[in-house]
Amino acid sequence: MNIVLIGFMGTGKSTIGRKLAAKLGMEFYDTDQDIEEVTGMTIPQLFKKHGEIRFRSEEAAAVKRAMRKDGRVIATGGGVVLNPDNVALLKQNSFMVCLTADKDTIYERVRRKKNRPLLHGDMQKNIERLLKEREPYYQVADIYIDTSACSVEEVEQQIIEAFK
Ligand code: S3P
Repeated sequence: MNIVLIGFMGTGKSTIGRKLAAKLGMEFYDTDQDIEEVTGMTIPQLFKKHGEIRFRSEEAAAVKRAMRKDGRVIATGGGVVLNPDNVALLKQNSFMVCLTADKDTIYERVRRKKNRPLLHGDMQKNIERLLKEREPYYQVADIYIDTSACSVEEVEQQIIEAFK
């Protein structure tokens, strides 16, 4: 069984996933990190040079690689759920956790970072628009955890309790 973390940008998927994997003695796998390693480009470089469509196809390939093994904690990119094939694959033999946060918390967490091409420009507006657009796509998880007011350890604990 794998634990798959889905959710919007800035909800803590990578941070929590890495710690959770260490705590549970599972392997950690991050689809964005995998894409960067395989393409030799950062996510912003990939978007700039080849566009979002190419990124999404790299992402689908990363999801396939992620699911090749069992016993992993898998952190995904915020848009992974937009592709139904990704969702179908990720849901096989996995416990799916959706991390959430309110829009102000997300903004505070991502505002100083330049690594999210889809938020370039008016970040607050883009966050609000994408959160609305994507809401239905995130309704595929086994549990939902609001990380806005929780420490990393508290979120970890909630996942472990639910996964038992
Ligand atoms: C994206 C989220 C990013 C990354 C890419 C696209 C999205 O990952 O995959 O910039 O479409 O929401 P994080 O959710 O880890 O920021």
